[in-house]
Amino acid sequence: MSTQIPNNLPSSASNQTLGITIRPSTEADLHAIQAIYAAAVLHGTGTFETEVPEVSEMARRRSEVLGRQLPWLVAEVGGQVQGYAYANYFRPRLAYRFCVEDSIYLAPGSQGQGLGRLLLAELMARCEQAGARQMLAVIGDSQNLGSLGVHKALGFEHSGVLKSAGWKFDRWLDVVMMQRQLGQGDRAAPEQGA
Ligand SMILES: CC(C)(COP(=O)(O)OP(=O)(O)OC[C@H]1O[C@@H](n2cnc3c(N)ncnc32)[C@H](O)[C@@H]1OP(=O)(O)O)[C@@H](O)C(=O)NCCC(=O)NCCS
Repeated sequence: MSTQIPNNLPSSASNQTLGITIRPSTEADLHAIQAIYAAAVLHGTGTFETEVPEVSEMARRRSEVLGRQLPWLVAEVGGQVQGYAYANYFRPRLAYRFCVEDSIYLAPGSQGQGLGRLLLAELMARCEQAGARQMLAVIGDSQNLGSLGVHKALGFEHSGVLKSAGWKFDRWLDVVMMQRQLGQGDRAAPEQGA
């Protein structure tokens, strides 16, 4: 059974009309990716990172994800990268290899227009193809309405709150956990050989 993504997403035809492309990232996208993440680190609570990583560090993170046969996508609007999303194992220990955590970031001017929804839907589909059975969202800040909204829109359910786990911008921040089964989820054992 395939992942059931809500059917009110814009079609790829209308995405083309709007000039939106969701595609695998390339090394040439790394500067744009780093700039998008830098804004989130410096001004947002969705990530608890407080020091902006260099482009070389973002390249290292991307290589790790791709090396695990997991997706790192970008969203282009009018030929400009406006967002990215990737998935990595929730934790490195082997038993977690069917459980991925998503990360998704858009440039500030591109938020709230449906782009996150398109990126996350494509990420989920590709993770399912890669054999993942669960996707977790580890959402920084219980007031992060954009992240809570995009995950809820794609069928994620709340699975817990870690109260005041972070301290950023001189305030305590919760972590909200949300979870979505992919494909057969836990109704069957993972593919043999995976
Ligand atoms: C989180 C993020 C990727 C979401 O992408 P987005 O393009 O802004 O979200 P969308 O426009 O696709 O909205 C998806 C759903 O969330 C809802 N939503 C989005 N922003 C919202 C807000 N501020 N308040 C309430 N609901 C919101 C939308 O209504 C939509 O639901 P619907 O389709 O049922 O109407 C984006 O806002 C972002 O980059 N935020 C900063 C970085 C961040 O916090 N990343 C997540 C780290 S955990």
